[in-house]
Amino acid sequence: MDFRDKNKLKFPQDFFWGTATSAYQVEGGIKNNDWAAAGYDAGVACDHYHRYEEDFDLAKSLNNNAHRFSIEWSRIEPEEGKFNQKEIEHYQKVIDALKRRNFEPFVTLHHFTNPIWFFKKGEWTKKESVKYFARYVKTVVKNLKGVRFWITVNEPVLYATLVYLTAEWPLQLLIDKYGEVARKKNLISTIKVTRNLIRAHQNAYKIIHKICPDAQVGIAKHNIYFEPYKNKSLNRVISGISRYLWNKYFLNKIKDCQDFIGLNYYRHTIVNLNLGNLKESFSEGEGAKNDLGWEIYPRGIYRVLMELKKYNKPIYITENGLADAKDEKRARFIIDHLKWIHKAMESGLDVRGYFYWSLMDNFEWAEGFKPRFGLFEVNYKTLERRARSSSKVYAKICKENKLYL
Ligand code: FCB
Repeated sequence: MDFRDKNKLKFPQDFFWGTATSAYQVEGGIKNNDWAAAGYDAGVACDHYHRYEEDFDLAKSLNNNAHRFSIEWSRIEPEEGKFNQKEIEHYQKVIDALKRRNFEPFVTLHHFTNPIWFFKKGEWTKKESVKYFARYVKTVVKNLKGVRFWITVNEPVLYATLVYLTAEWPLQLLIDKYGEVARKKNLISTIKVTRNLIRAHQNAYKIIHKICPDAQVGIAKHNIYFEPYKNKSLNRVISGISRYLWNKYFLNKIKDCQDFIGLNYYRHTIVNLNLGNLKESFSEGEGAKNDLGWEIYPRGIYRVLMELKKYNKPIYITENGLADAKDEKRARFIIDHLKWIHKAMESGLDVRGYFYWSLMDNFEWAEGFKPRFGLFEVNYKTLERRARSSSKVYAKICKENKLYL
């Protein structure tokens, strides 16, 4: 296609424009998963569980034609092997509400949370996890009608690392309550979890295709732009290893069972080897930061997209966004990232959609409610939503399907 028209960058006719959320971060009222049990109670969150209709109207006001959300496993299967029909019906209503507004639903099956019973069984460290996940996937996919795009797992490598290697997602309370059945901070369990998530995806891929042959199945992969400091050779080697372990390993393993790649892009990491302290070999770049101190580095999305070229698959940007409570940097952030995405498309990358994270402010895991990622601001006292001015900029881009230079 012709990507340019004088001073405009054009996107393909059927490009998907959307926003993304996940169940625990927005729904509210979830008590039966590992995060809640660990003391990370999201309370009513945004009460999206009851307000999805009005929230989808907000998404529609952005001129979106797609929406990404996740299903909460602990609602569907609150006890091992016992499925809750009412909750399945709830998610069918959510899908129908999207369809009525002409959105293409992108449905994530696992977005960081697990039912408590699954934790007690040893969670993702155990081989059986694959079987349990498969049963849940089968039930969901058999019952929910109208979904073509399935994302099996969100950011599996980040999940395994933060929970098992660095234990930054501190779930000590869980261990106090139930013992160290699963969460032991070490490399072995990190590897086991990663491998089980690979198997879980491969299995789910087959199950979904068996039930709906036309489905498009992938994962949402958190990839980082690793840049060697001053391009020194040792730094290049460490960057290469990091790129392999963090960005490529999982995708290589599942390359024959994915119909698309979902890319989540947030981070730029400068690699400068420090033998005294390996952790300090990785740092943020020097550019402007978001409210969480993450560097804003739009060019990095081009670099990580180009790394995906070899897989030869359609790509959806399943997440990209920033914490910016004052909304000072968000509009520029979106425009600049889209410019680099567009450049990757001009270089031959088959990017088919963009989902801003997130539709509205929500519960940001260990960081709680403080970071503000939303195009819509949420007042957590009244639960009122208010459009930030950047939402108008995004709405215009989505409407026109182009960017002005
Ligand atoms: C991603 C997660 C998402 C959200 C954003 C800010 O890593 O997938 O749930 O927390 O970061």
